[in-house]
Amino acid sequence: MNAAATTAEKNEGHMSGGQGLTDRAVGLERPVDSTKLDTTHGVILYLEDITVTFDGFRAINKLNIAIDRGELRCIIGPNGAGKTTMMDVITGKTRPDSGTAFFGQTIDLSKLNEAQIAHAGIGRKFQKPTVFEHLSVFENLELAMKTDKGIWTSLFFKLSGAQRDHIGETLEIINLKDQAHRPAGLLSHGQKQWLEIGMLLMQEPQLLLLDEPAAGMTDEETARSGELFLSLAGKYTLVVVEHDMDFIKQISKKVTCLHEGSVLAEGTLEQVQNDERVIEVYLGR
Ligand SMILES: Nc1ncnc2c1ncn2[C@@H]1O[C@H](COP(=O)(O)OP(=O)(O)OP(=O)(O)O)[C@@H](O)[C@H]1O
Ligand SMILES: [Mg+2]
Repeated sequence: MNAAATTAEKNEGHMSGGQGLTDRAVGLERPVDSTKLDTTHGVILYLEDITVTFDGFRAINKLNIAIDRGELRCIIGPNGAGKTTMMDVITGKTRPDSGTAFFGQTIDLSKLNEAQIAHAGIGRKFQKPTVFEHLSVFENLELAMKTDKGIWTSLFFKLSGAQRDHIGETLEIINLKDQAHRPAGLLSHGQKQWLEIGMLLMQEPQLLLLDEPAAGMTDEETARSGELFLSLAGKYTLVVVEHDMDFIKQISKKVTCLHEGSVLAEGTLEQVQNDERVIEVYLGR
C-alpha cells in the first residue's frame, strides 16, 4: 500500500465517523452518511456569499440563502435569474468561484463530488423525467433503492419484506399503486414525474431539489403534484423552482425571488408579489 491509499482510507474512516472495521467498510461505500446530518440549529442548507461566473458573467452573485429543515421553499425569478445554477452549486455540478455551501452544520458541500452529495442526502429532480421506460413502475422504484448493487444484480435480487413494504409505501405516496406493474413508458408525463420523485424518495434523501416540476403537466396533474409536495414537506425538506404562479400559490409558505443571481425578495407569496422591485423585474424595465 502506498501512502496515498493509506491517507484515503483514513479519510473515509473519518468521514463515516467510525473507528471500527464495520463502520470503515460502510464508509468506503458511502463516504458521507445522511444520518450524520447535523441540523441542531434547524437549518438544513446554508448558502453564503456564493458567486458563480461563466466567462466573466455573474450567473450567481453573492447569493445568501438558508433553508430550514422540513421547509417547502419556493424559488421564483425571471429567466436567467440563476435558479438552476443555484441547484447546480448545491449538487456539486457547478463549483462556485467563492462563497460557502453547507448541508447542515457540518457537511461542507465544496469538499464533496456529485455522487457523495447525493449519498449525503440531497436528491435532485431534473425537468425531464429519466425513468427506465421498459421497466415497470415497481421495478423502477426497486432499482432506485439505496443498494450498492449493479443494475442486473438488483433486478434478480430477491427483495426482503421490508424492502417490498418500502416500495409499496412509496407507490402510495406518489399515487401510482394501481400502475405498479405497467411499463413506465406507458405512463402520462405527470405520472412519470411522480415516478421519478418516488425514485428519489427510495434513496431516503433529506433535501429534495425540484426544478420546474409542474412544467408540461395538465392542470389536474399540477394540482396533484402540489398535494404531493405538501404531504412530503416536514418529513423532507423541499426546494421547488417554478414559474407557474398558480402552483406556487397552492404550495407556497416562504418564497424567495431571485434576480441576477441574488435574492431580490423573500417572504410570503403575497409579500413577494407586492414588492416593488419584484414587480419591476417581472414587468420589465
Ligand atoms: N454553463 C453555462 N455557461 C454559460 N452561461 C451559463 C451556463 N449556465 C447558465 N448560464 C447563464 O447563467 C444565467 C443563469 O442561468 P440559470 O439557468 O441558472 O437561470 P434560471 O433562473 O434557471 O432560468 P430559467 O427560469 O430560464 O430556467 C443565464 O444567463 C444563463 O445563460
Ligand atoms: Mg432554470
